[in-house]
Amino acid sequence: MTTLINGKEVAQNLRNELKKEIDILKTKTGKVPGLAVVQVGNVAASSVYVKSKTKSAKEVGIEVFDHHLPDEITQEDLLKLVNTLNNQYNVNGILVQLPLPKHINEQAVLDSIHPDKDADGFHPLNVGKLSIASDNDESLLVPCTPYGCLIMLKGLGIDLSGKNAVVIGRSNIVGKPMAQLLLKESCTVTIAHSKTKNIEDVCRNADIVVAAVGRPKMVKGDWVKKGAIVIDVGINRITIEVEGVEKNKLVGDVDFDEASKNASAITPVPGGVGPMTIACLLRNTTIAFKNKTKQ
Ligand code: GUN
Repeated sequence: MTTLINGKEVAQNLRNELKKEIDILKTKTGKVPGLAVVQVGNVAASSVYVKSKTKSAKEVGIEVFDHHLPDEITQEDLLKLVNTLNNQYNVNGILVQLPLPKHINEQAVLDSIHPDKDADGFHPLNVGKLSIASDNDESLLVPCTPYGCLIMLKGLGIDLSGKNAVVIGRSNIVGKPMAQLLLKESCTVTIAHSKTKNIEDVCRNADIVVAAVGRPKMVKGDWVKKGAIVIDVGINRITIEVEGVEKNKLVGDVDFDEASKNASAITPVPGGVGPMTIACLLRNTTIAFKNKTKQ
């Protein structure tokens, strides 16, 4: 039987735990974690994510500081805002939604966020800490999507140690930090990417496949070993024809119908990894608050 990993449910459980923890922190310190959410322009997908992040943060008791800036803002002015937020005492986490407009150097903006307030875990210092910190360091700010994937994997209750894990995609946001997290769990990790030779065979050797490439249904059923666990990070909008009418559909990087025949556990799209990313952002904001207030 194939287990359908319910990201909505796992994320809800994490949010419930965070809400309880934030209530306790509020009683102890008289304060709640604060998250600054910065959006530049009006990219439709970003607006959806930002709305969802803001709503979820408020629901668990995090104070949200919204900053919606026009597309034409200069890099200098955006850096000034980040600097202000770095110095704002009641802001514990700063999130600058990506992508940014072309005229702004994304890395320069991410580098300008104070590492202690880096709710996304994208700052070079936090990227470095992820690779060298001890395995049980609870103070780390880790990129949200891969951490969400790890929570789902751990929730299956299997021993990850020694498993062959293949991460497809080498992005800074997902692929690379995912590989680091799996390495910490003592998996044997391979990062496959667009130049990997015989990627199908590489995948067929995996006990765990994490697909994060942004290519609809790239991972076919026969790429998945019988009994493997499949985590699908992709969220791709495709057009399909239903009874002569064109409709939009969200699909992952994995051909779900085929792959679920071989997988022992698999995440759906939507309702898999997506909700976990947001829950882990709230977790990072709470960690940043605890680090600061020494709780
Ligand atoms: N754009 C797509 N995913 C993310 C994310 O996890 N964080 C931020 N800041 N922007 C994104």
